[in-house]
Amino acid sequence: MKRIALLGYGVVGTGLVELIEKNREKDEKLNIRVEAILVKHKEKHNNKKLNQVITEDCEEVFSKDWDILVEVIGGINPAYSYVKRALELGKHVVTANKDLIAEYGEELFQIAKDKGVALKFEASVAGGIPIIKPLTESLSGNDIKSIKGIINGTTNFILSKMYEDGVEYGEALKEAQDRGFAEANPDADVLGYDAARKLAILSTLAFKKRVFWKDIKVEGITSIDSKDFAYAKKANCKIKLLSYSKKEENRVFATVKPVLIDSESDFYRVNNEINSVILSGDAVGELVFKGSGAGMLPTASAVYGDIVDLAFNKNNVVINSFSEDKLSVEHRSEEKIQSLIRIDTDNKKELILELNNRFTAAELLDLFDNEVALLVDGYTEMELEERLITLKQLSYVNRVKRILKVS
Ligand code: HSE
Repeated sequence: MKRIALLGYGVVGTGLVELIEKNREKDEKLNIRVEAILVKHKEKHNNKKLNQVITEDCEEVFSKDWDILVEVIGGINPAYSYVKRALELGKHVVTANKDLIAEYGEELFQIAKDKGVALKFEASVAGGIPIIKPLTESLSGNDIKSIKGIINGTTNFILSKMYEDGVEYGEALKEAQDRGFAEANPDADVLGYDAARKLAILSTLAFKKRVFWKDIKVEGITSIDSKDFAYAKKANCKIKLLSYSKKEENRVFATVKPVLIDSESDFYRVNNEINSVILSGDAVGELVFKGSGAGMLPTASAVYGDIVDLAFNKNNVVINSFSEDKLSVEHRSEEKIQSLIRIDTDNKKELILELNNRFTAAELLDLFDNEVALLVDGYTEMELEERLITLKQLSYVNRVKRILKVS
């Protein structure tokens, strides 16, 4: 029998209890027992299962006998202190908390190592997709070269609804919240921080040294407007929040930003809350992972898998990569890229003449009054930015906006 203490009884906690019940007969040998459930407001959970073990008192939880702490509260406080306390007591911990792993991974994995226990975190990245286990176990024969992913379900849901159904941003966000995809404070989703934390976790595991999430250049989706969608459609593209990291010798290039995704790309068909991660390993080549990246049962599925591993004593993976020795992170790659440039102008005619002189290999998209858009190819980010700086100096140019295109 494995006894667990569950911290948090929201979307993921509820899904976990449902999975435990559902699998009870099938996984007879496992026999998971929930000894305590910690919640903030007990009265909100009156009609839920296991009502008799729900408490608002963390001391009551820690006074009981259990083997595994399952943390699905989310956020740093108070999750951090509970997880640390459990590890220090020599208890295994399973968490879905990307904020915690990205911010305090170094300290928490060290405590786990010192105490000879496991801190498992499959649900922290890409919801139901098994991605931590492949990176820490199955792919250990590889040097991972790059990670590309759509790893925030909320933003992918919002961008999909806006693109496909013409739904307004606020309405799409509300639906993502109602469906349990968004963080308690959805700013973490829409400003790109949630994706940056997940990218930092994946990159740290893949590149075997710490990539700190705050070193990653992040751009969220809040500046994407209806005209961007119109240009995207015209260019046969969708807009996705793409997380990308790449290792070159001792350098890592990592960014999170909205990009145009070409219809040829695998990511083009990754819609709504679905996540996808493409890993490139030197031995295995390219691997594509795709599945539900957020929501009750997909996330609970990952948590459940971690509990089962611990129940069967599969807790021998030691995580060393969240070390003090951080990799330095760069934001601009030297690759030649494609980009959409939107230029707000008082003199369209003059601007088009000027653009023809300044950009080769460019396609003009003329959809709106007072602005011109251009799809350009063959420049590095640095080269393009230099050109945009001089463009902004023209008297008839008001504003310039750029979105990278990924094929
Ligand atoms: N808010 C997160 C997302 C939940 O939308 O992806 C899953 O980590």
